[in-house]
Amino acid sequence: MSAAPSEAGQANPTYGALTTEGNSTNIAWHHSTVTRAARAHQRGHRSAILWFTGLSGAGKSTLANAVNSALFEQGLACYVLDGDNIRHGLCKDLGFSDAAREENIRRIGEVAKLFVDAGVVALTAFVSPFKADRDKVRALVPAGDFIEIHCAADLDVCEQRDTKGLYAKARAGEIKEFTGISSPYEAPEAPELRVDTGSQSLEESVAQVLAYLQGQGIIPQAE
Ligand code: ADX
Repeated sequence: MSAAPSEAGQANPTYGALTTEGNSTNIAWHHSTVTRAARAHQRGHRSAILWFTGLSGAGKSTLANAVNSALFEQGLACYVLDGDNIRHGLCKDLGFSDAAREENIRRIGEVAKLFVDAGVVALTAFVSPFKADRDKVRALVPAGDFIEIHCAADLDVCEQRDTKGLYAKARAGEIKEFTGISSPYEAPEAPELRVDTGSQSLEESVAQVLAYLQGQGIIPQAE
């Protein structure tokens, strides 16, 4: 026997009230029987978003990947959402205008929020040049669950590295709206962590991130 359709939303505690979100009308939240807290208890660690931001070539992906490896070695559930990789699929319809970058970060923020609910430490490596877009992601999750990590290599260092040859192309006018050259980068004013990926070694940067996460009780102390 199913509940009477007219009162289904109110009569069934599994569902929240009918709401509208954007263009989605008459939707109701379905409450999961497996909660975030239950997942954290089972896994023995908290989940969070580690949001790596910085110029192209600053070392976001490299650092996120290395931290991810260290967490994995410790047996923690973790996953890297990488800008270039996500633009191969979920966000391949987006370019690099301000509006497209905003939508890119909005989507990744929502995906990272799902990872947090799933009990996974989500490491995101996106240029994410606009403060307002990063702050919107911060507001999606409870306080303390969004860790902004500024990979603070200077533009001249990134340009000198030019790991993908993109700065040369941008200087030659072959790439429009390139961050740092023809599109702005708004550095975080008060990130949880600022990592000098321009001068310190990868090992030092990984150790800095892990020490912060341990200090905050986000990950257990290594044995
Ligand atoms: S974001 O600005 O929307 O956060 P995202 O991190 O997804 O950018 O993608 C950045 C990557 O796309 C860079 O590492 C680089 O490889 C590539 N890319 C291509 N065009 C641009 C551009 N105009 N500005 C910045 N990065 C670009």
